[in-house]
Amino acid sequence: MTVKEILATKDTNNIISVKGWVKTKRGSKNVSFIALNDGSTINSIQVVAESDSFNEELLKKITTGSCICVNGKLVKSKGQGQVNEILASSVEILGKADAKEYPLQPKKHSLEFLREKAHLRFRTNTFSAIFRIRHALTFAVHKFFNDRGFVNLHTPIITGADAEGAGEMFQVTNLDLENGKEIDFSKDFFGKKTHLTVSGQLEAELGAMGLGKVYTFGPTFRAENSNTSRHLSEFWMIEPEVAFASLDDNILLAEEFLKYCIDYCIKKNPEDLKFLNTRLEEEEKDIKKELRSEMSLLDRLNFIINNDFVRLTYREAIEILKNSKPNKKKKFNYIINGFGADLQSEHERFLVEKKFKKPVIITDYPKNIKAFYMRMNDDNETVRAMDILFPTIGEIIGGSQREERLDKLESRMEEMNVSKEEIWWYLETRKYGSCIHSGFGLGFERLVMFITGMKNIRDVIPFPRTPQSADF
Ligand code: 4AD
Ligand code: MG
Repeated sequence: MTVKEILATKDTNNIISVKGWVKTKRGSKNVSFIALNDGSTINSIQVVAESDSFNEELLKKITTGSCICVNGKLVKSKGQGQVNEILASSVEILGKADAKEYPLQPKKHSLEFLREKAHLRFRTNTFSAIFRIRHALTFAVHKFFNDRGFVNLHTPIITGADAEGAGEMFQVTNLDLENGKEIDFSKDFFGKKTHLTVSGQLEAELGAMGLGKVYTFGPTFRAENSNTSRHLSEFWMIEPEVAFASLDDNILLAEEFLKYCIDYCIKKNPEDLKFLNTRLEEEEKDIKKELRSEMSLLDRLNFIINNDFVRLTYREAIEILKNSKPNKKKKFNYIINGFGADLQSEHERFLVEKKFKKPVIITDYPKNIKAFYMRMNDDNETVRAMDILFPTIGEIIGGSQREERLDKLESRMEEMNVSKEEIWWYLETRKYGSCIHSGFGLGFERLVMFITGMKNIRDVIPFPRTPQSADF
């Protein structure tokens, strides 16, 4: 049985068998109490091993981190802190863990330390909770779209197209790049220059203009050298794309989707969230009052699902920011002086956390700071873009209505130096049976960060890839 199943069992006196890893062992000469966990739940089962029934040498070898198999009777606990416990009749050590060497001793370890031990951190309460939640969210994503008739599209990971036109790509090649000669990409593996995808959007658009409603959920790669707590070089993105949908439809879908995922997790992972809620409260005890969150993690999640997001245009956002300061003493590091400025994360967080205290959707950005595929507004200056900004996270979703008019799309590509030859196939959807359509991209790790309350994106993906770091 799993620990989760055992803890849910009401009938005592059953003989059961369980395998797991020892979290702690304490006790006296006469009896040992072992907290055993197998990853099925945040809670551990207490195993009681009475010294009379066990060889002393065997009990000594049961140390934190060792893997054991226990057979015994489930009984009502005499102690406090648990309802039932296992009175062990036999214990087998499946894998020992030398107490002097095992890195995860039963004490508080820093998140930085655990990042270096990413191969073992699944055994900690914090990371087991995070990765069970990440799993639940993965499931929620597929369920949300499946229930609404979307088709899941597996878009390529290796591609020749630069979907965002930002050029921050990892090249894929099997050529010998060290010989210093001019590179002839026609001799490369795919007969042309290729790289890891930055987004599945362009291919998702092709799917939508035939299947109607599609979504991707896959890894994406960005070679931007931003070593921040919100950027990964390899991250997972969910990109729905819907034919006949306007920007307004797109915004409604995105808001419903985010609320659905949070609600799903509150319902499916109450114990993990309760644990992370307490964890965050404890973490924030040690920091300055003004830096602490105004709401607890659980209150924050409930607040999001029970309130409408605020919607404003880029121009409205700029007007607010021109006349604001993040606090009485300080100005923004980047001063916004007018139309065309890109919003920095300090501005996004000001709008969300100070001004509106709610998620904020900003629409209609200047064309110059957005990608070539976004639909031009009649003012010829702004595009039908939308970014959704979340408290503590900043941008969680970026999306837009797409330019469906071939002539307008081609002239934007020329202005922005995006090769028409490279994505001739994308242009053909505008030539044959074009229609309005919209979509967005949700950074999956940013959603997991928000829901778990973790402050560094490296702690919500099993094995993070960031500049100068690709261990495990
Ligand atoms: O805003 P982005 O760059 O948009 C796109 O890629 C579009 N093709 C999406 C679409 O319309 N289909 O990225 C989308 C989201 C961001 O809002 C952010 O949440 C996340 O992806 N993101 C990252 N997450 C982690 N690490 C990075 N380096 C990220 N870059 C973007
Ligand atoms: Mg963006």
